[in-house]
Amino acid sequence: MPFIGAFAPPGDKSVSHRLILMALLAEGEALIKGLSQCEDVASSLAAFRALGGSATAEPDGLRIKGLAGQWPPFESLEIDCRNSGTTMRLLAGVLAGSPGRYILDGDDQLRRRPMERVAKPLRLMGAQVTCQNGRPPMTIEGRPLNGVDYCPTDASAQVKGAILLAGLKASGPTSVTEVSATRSHTENLINHFHGHVAVDDLKLTVTPGILRLPPVFETPADPSSAAFFLTGAAIIPGGRVTATNILLSPTRTGFLKVLNQMGAKVTMVMTSDTPEPCGDVTVEYAGPLTGAEVPAEDIPSLIDEIPILALAAALAEGPSVFRGVEELRVKETDRLMSIRHQLGALGARVKIEGNDLLIQGPTTFILPDRLDSGRDHRLAMTLIMALRAAKANIPIVGEESIAISYPNFQEHVKLLWSK
Ligand code: S3P
Repeated sequence: MPFIGAFAPPGDKSVSHRLILMALLAEGEALIKGLSQCEDVASSLAAFRALGGSATAEPDGLRIKGLAGQWPPFESLEIDCRNSGTTMRLLAGVLAGSPGRYILDGDDQLRRRPMERVAKPLRLMGAQVTCQNGRPPMTIEGRPLNGVDYCPTDASAQVKGAILLAGLKASGPTSVTEVSATRSHTENLINHFHGHVAVDDLKLTVTPGILRLPPVFETPADPSSAAFFLTGAAIIPGGRVTATNILLSPTRTGFLKVLNQMGAKVTMVMTSDTPEPCGDVTVEYAGPLTGAEVPAEDIPSLIDEIPILALAAALAEGPSVFRGVEELRVKETDRLMSIRHQLGALGARVKIEGNDLLIQGPTTFILPDRLDSGRDHRLAMTLIMALRAAKANIPIVGEESIAISYPNFQEHVKLLWSK
């Protein structure tokens, strides 16, 4: 039985976070349509409200009023970012130039994730930032900021985003030069909100200023959520799935390039170009997939899709390699180990050599008594797709974590799974 049909994935999580957190630095009000309803975005919304932001549900979307960077200087405000690394890192950038003392904390998984990568550039800009051994809780004392010219060593859209957002409040221009291009939403949205970021290849320069919200914003759908069903179509004979109105920024669509390279049929119909390209994507099964080699510079454009691509690689004929995937070690779990252990438990031949992930397909499934997602939402969804491909049904521990990014995932499984 294949996955067949069309569906509308949830609003893009990365864009949703930015819409809310950037409203802290913007004037005006906006009706946001199609905002992601996931738990991670709820964490950003809770932080927005904790700082005094107003957000009210209307029949067509969420109406938010910008705070234009003005809120009372909190003597000490604790903000619980729960599981959301994006909330914590981007918010740190927003708060760095705002008077007050802010303590950003999170759950046990977030408390294990590196924050020094954000703290360091914000300190260079003049904020007082402390972490616990480089991890949360992170305390930020907002200060007047100076512009910097910074080259992060990690390819991270969250680090870039935090610096650009802090740069909006600095006394002069701030530049970030990336090691590889990461998702471009912060810079594109700053420009869409009447700010100014100049882009010169990997160097971005933000001019300080206040943003202005557009009256209406339509959130495009999330390619990283769509990826589970689009890949599901590619790996199970007879599959054909269309995801409508998804974000098609090249900084997000690396997985479609890889599926195509592996032999799936991929077609795109662009529907809009502003502020970022989006459109409808169809992926169709076109025979067994073949292994692929993914170079390190392509990794940021598919960083969140590696678990589901690893499943495609496990079912493909021949070897696949994902080079330079060390960033996976610091996601919700050590995703490299989770992929190796959980796909390995299903019979896949997965190896980690240095910073590369190697997978030898095809796989003859074996079925353990249960699988364990480690409460990693992207791994849980990958394992559900693996079990569909294996025509098996065994329990997956920590499946409820899927709500972190894709609350209606199971509904879409039912919608698209043809009987
Ligand atoms: C995100 C950036 C990526 C990605 C995460 C969302 C963002 O993280 O993995 O799911 O919205 O900026 P890094 O910046 O840590 O690479």
